[in-house]
Amino acid sequence: MAIERIVDTGVHDDSDEQQIEVSLRPQNFSEYIGQERLKRNLKLAIDAAKKRGEPIDHVLLYGPPGLGKTTMATVIANEMGTNIRITAGPAIERAGDLASILTNLADGDVLFIDEIHRLSRTVEEVLYSAMEDFKLDIVIGKGPAARSVRLDLPKFTVIGATTRTGSLAAPLRDRFGHIYRHEFYTPEEIGQIIARSARILESSIHPEAAKMLSTRARLTPRIANRLLKRVRDYADVNGDGIIDTVLTTQALEMLEVDELGLDPADRHLLTSVIDNYGNNPVGLNTIAALTGDEATTIEDFYEPYLLQLGFIERTPRGRKVTPKALKHLGRGTAGSQQKLV
Ligand SMILES: Nc1ncnc2c1ncn2[C@@H]1O[C@H](COP(=O)(O)OP(=O)(O)O)[C@@H](O)[C@H]1O
Ligand SMILES: [Mg+2]
Repeated sequence: MAIERIVDTGVHDDSDEQQIEVSLRPQNFSEYIGQERLKRNLKLAIDAAKKRGEPIDHVLLYGPPGLGKTTMATVIANEMGTNIRITAGPAIERAGDLASILTNLADGDVLFIDEIHRLSRTVEEVLYSAMEDFKLDIVIGKGPAARSVRLDLPKFTVIGATTRTGSLAAPLRDRFGHIYRHEFYTPEEIGQIIARSARILESSIHPEAAKMLSTRARLTPRIANRLLKRVRDYADVNGDGIIDTVLTTQALEMLEVDELGLDPADRHLLTSVIDNYGNNPVGLNTIAALTGDEATTIEDFYEPYLLQLGFIERTPRGRKVTPKALKHLGRGTAGSQQKLV
């Protein structure tokens, strides 16, 4: 993304953020907070697979960014006691790239494919037949001399992660025995994640301050950790390093994050829709044009949380800003602002 928002759900490019993510990443189920239904189902699958001495069935994890999909993939591999090989949809350009990844796996290995919806169709086809019967059909040579060979692959587990299952071809989606959606966390769970992260970072935070942060992190662990880090920096510079509610309030004001975790970009999105369209539904591309973002950025990064809050509604004719959002923004009801379009 062009502008790095404090509350965006993507990983910021600075190495600091990436390093912190790694150090804070839960390693096993007991450290992984929340997503109880998902953990329950996966634990059962892992126990059963271990008992049979087999790898677990392929797993597809989907949901908005920053909710712990990559983390869950590493937890699964750790709990299975296997190696994990990490790659991403856009990194596997040709079928040959996938073939070399697959032939280098060992029995039981986990292959994690992030952004699996971004695989090309040809790669997708090779992948799902490999997932189906652990065989790889490759063509050797060119022209009339070309012949097809069938290679045996080790028994591996694919864990795919995606923000959008809709973009996955049905044959690929059907190869996953487990398909789970990551849900937004509750403020209580986010509070626990903040407390855990503060412990690991050896920073002291008052429970009241942790509570304050937990309602502003967009119910998303990645943002909770990022806010914690920024507030900690602020407390180091402007106080004695102990994070209390006064310093937290000041830091959040400076970062322009409001009580619900909205930042100026969210408010701009909502107000430009209201100002230009009142309470009429608008298409995603229109919203993108209003904010100057890509439609996919709106869909993946802004919208999930705004939908979760009930600030945006999806109708068959487009997105609508709700009265609840207007109230939060201190605006009148949408009806009184309705414009003809
Ligand atoms: N359930 C959880 N408990 C504690 N921390 C979590 C949890 N889920 C995610 N995190 C933290 O949030 C960060 C982002 O999670 P990640 O797995 O990279 O999200 P995603 O892959 O869904 O975008 C991780 O570095 C991790 O520290
Ligand atoms: Mg990820």
